Amino acid sequence: MAREIRGGFASRLGFVLAAAGSAIGLGNIWKFPYVTGANGGGAFLIIYLVTVFVIGSSIMLAEFSIGRAAERNPVGAFRRLKGGAWVGVGYMGVITGLLVLSFYSVVGGWTIAYALKAVSGQLAGGDAASLGSAFGGFIGSTAEPLVYHAIFMVLTAVVVGAGIGGGIERAGKVLMPLLFLLILILIVQVMSLPGASKGLEFFFAPDFSKVTGDTIIAAVGQAFFSLSLGMGAMMTYGSYLSRKVWLPTTVATVTLLDTLVAILAGIVILPAVFAFGVDPAAGPGLTFITLPAIFNQMPGGDWIACAFFLLLCVAALTSSVSMLEVVVAYLVDEKNVKRTRATAGAGILIFLLGIPSSLSFGLLGDATWQGKTFFDMMDYLVTNILLPVGGILIAVFAAWVAWPRIIEEVSGWAKASFPLANVWRFVLGIVAPIGVLVVLINGL
Ligand code: TRP
Repeated sequence: MAREIRGGFASRLGFVLAAAGSAIGLGNIWKFPYVTGANGGGAFLIIYLVTVFVIGSSIMLAEFSIGRAAERNPVGAFRRLKGGAWVGVGYMGVITGLLVLSFYSVVGGWTIAYALKAVSGQLAGGDAASLGSAFGGFIGSTAEPLVYHAIFMVLTAVVVGAGIGGGIERAGKVLMPLLFLLILILIVQVMSLPGASKGLEFFFAPDFSKVTGDTIIAAVGQAFFSLSLGMGAMMTYGSYLSRKVWLPTTVATVTLLDTLVAILAGIVILPAVFAFGVDPAAGPGLTFITLPAIFNQMPGGDWIACAFFLLLCVAALTSSVSMLEVVVAYLVDEKNVKRTRATAGAGILIFLLGIPSSLSFGLLGDATWQGKTFFDMMDYLVTNILLPVGGILIAVFAAWVAWPRIIEEVSGWAKASFPLANVWRFVLGIVAPIGVLVVLINGL
């Protein structure tokens, strides 16, 4: 009944693409390379991969299961399956959704701006230094990035407003494979640059002397961020999924695709960083500076750049809709607000919340706290604290509070038992909470 009223994914493929679309986004192509760069390369990569495959995939399965068992947004899901204080974890997810989208949308806006700059020839001919100052000038200005932030939020809201199936399921079915193809072309291009191999060495050769508590937190946080975990986004998607689908293969597919795209992005960006003499720890500008420098060396580079940034924007949109969907599903399910109104209201609120993040690259650049601007603080709070804490709570809930209902969701409906059930429960109930908690306490 609930499923008919709330809408749902029409097919297993549609669901896998939507979940992979949520996972694959700016986190892979913009964030992963610069966070890897700032954290010393190879050793970070190893910690990241271990977290993704052991803890991340387990929590993704837990989120899908909780969502499908309850057929509700995170707040409603915890209320239905247990109630009490656990409902707070759902509220935390909704609030995290507002916060994460507020700064994600700012960067999403940059991708639109860069697609337009590419066709109008504004990126042509520059070297890394001039591209770097052009980027700094753009994000440091006041009105222009805010306009693009607004456009990105409108696009996100339009897709979410159209509902599951209508908007989300369709978005990206053709465009994601295209993005993938473009990344492969870029790899070929970047490998021909002199000095590229130094970047590969930086990326793949681990130097554990560079690992600190902060490195590990950053790796764990990035794993949660990249897989869209810890705030109920995957839970909400799971709530729209048919009981016929066997969840573990879906989790494996999404985790592998997400990791593949992150690594391929690293193979493009980090060699380019070394070839063009950019500092690998240069931060959020890394992708926006090195990629145009690569495009400038390619015939028809302006058009390839435009196509790339448009596809990156689409990848960002299929992620941003999953953040907004959490907030909207909460308002629709729990507060009986109409989908269109909920989407518009939440969209405007998130746009406003994002304004100081955008301004922190210019006007508010000097307003720092412990060396962090407003944007840095939002990112740190969400990625390194709220998502890991939310993830642990989801894991503990699945393993210790609602286990019978959760395991039934994985091996009951599809009539295929889950051979790794005990390992999964051990990771959720023991490894993930203790591991992540130790990392958090150590780092803070
Ligand atoms: N995973 C997405 C990316 O890599 C971002 C994202 C979408 C996300 N939904 C999320 C991050 C929920 C945290 C929580 O770009």
